Amino acid sequence: MNTKEFNHALETLKYPNLDRTLGELKLISSAKVSSGSASVELSTLSDESYLTVKTAIMDAFGSTFTRLDITKKAHVQKDTNYGNTATPNNRAPYAKNVIAVTSGKGGVGKSTVSVNLAIALAQMGYAVGLLDADVYGPNIPRLTNTDLEKITWNDDNKIVPSENYGLKIMSVALTTPTSDTPLVWRSSVAVSALIQFLEDVAWGELDFMVIDMPPGTGDIQLTMAQELPITAGVLVTTPQLVASDDVSRAIRMFQDIHVPMAGLVENMSYFVAPDTGNRYDIFGSGGGQRLSERYNIPLLGQIPLDMEIREGSDNGEPPVVLGSELQKSYYQDIVKKMMEVIEFNI
Ligand SMILES: Nc1ncnc2c1ncn2[C@@H]1O[C@H](COP(=O)(O)OP(=O)(O)OP(=O)(O)O)[C@@H](O)[C@H]1O
Ligand SMILES: [Mg+2]
Repeated sequence: MNTKEFNHALETLKYPNLDRTLGELKLISSAKVSSGSASVELSTLSDESYLTVKTAIMDAFGSTFTRLDITKKAHVQKDTNYGNTATPNNRAPYAKNVIAVTSGKGGVGKSTVSVNLAIALAQMGYAVGLLDADVYGPNIPRLTNTDLEKITWNDDNKIVPSENYGLKIMSVALTTPTSDTPLVWRSSVAVSALIQFLEDVAWGELDFMVIDMPPGTGDIQLTMAQELPITAGVLVTTPQLVASDDVSRAIRMFQDIHVPMAGLVENMSYFVAPDTGNRYDIFGSGGGQRLSERYNIPLLGQIPLDMEIREGSDNGEPPVVLGSELQKSYYQDIVKKMMEVIEFNI
């Protein structure tokens, strides 16, 4: 195998457990073959993913060469670039800041957190758009009471977003005949739909675009990071998940693609019995704190498991608007903390 062939083979090697190649992720800085030995230099990676990629390359090519040296390129300046060379595209130049709300797992409360954080920002007077990037399980219309709306086009042939609670809202659910119509799209189609939502929706000028990501660390998350300069990532987790691989994977992916993490929201953190006022740490306690220390990302807040949050949310009545002062404060305090952590462009 010569240098050219080796480079090609490396570029097309898959990142373990991700549907992306090392080439797409721009993780190969350089690779050379000379008289049967090879050397590879990997672009900036967290230590853990450096080892992951190194092992994958060793497994694939260890026996091809008499010697295979894999090193890590010296850490370059931390920025919002995707990979270490390409700056991300900016499909949303009308948005001053983009906040991506994610988690490694489903059902932890990403959509609920996205909606309430977006509204908390709007309550502070900012122009806010909320994009439902969960094309296979779009919940934002139900949570914002816009689920009966259907999209319309304006005179410029742009899609008019729904509006409620001070937000402009776009979701694939607004384009399907009924909100429970399942989508059977390949991920490439889903990705193009989202790009269309960024480019062909009449968002106007936005101070913040909040994106409710689908669960996991797949194609959509990576594409969004590639197509948008994400200002801050917010990771939602629950206490019993904090030690899990899924959460670590989500954090590592954001580190690898250089998305700055605003911090961690521990949702369904504890339960206060409405009748007695007793607090129960149903899923244990201190997990969010430990995770925050381990990865050096701030704990932005802890939101209890609260029946009214569930009922209100599922009825399209967001707690940050229609809840008690205490319920409002959970989300408003997270936004305040996020503003202390990240220097937003406002
Ligand atoms: N703090 C909370 N207290 C009680 N119920 C909550 C809380 N946060 C979210 N829920 C409820 O938990 C369920 C899941 O929340 P949500 O849909 O926001 O999660 P998700 O992470 O977006 O899920 P998915 O991965 O399916 O997109 C919803 O019924 C929601 O109302
Ligand atoms: Mg969701």
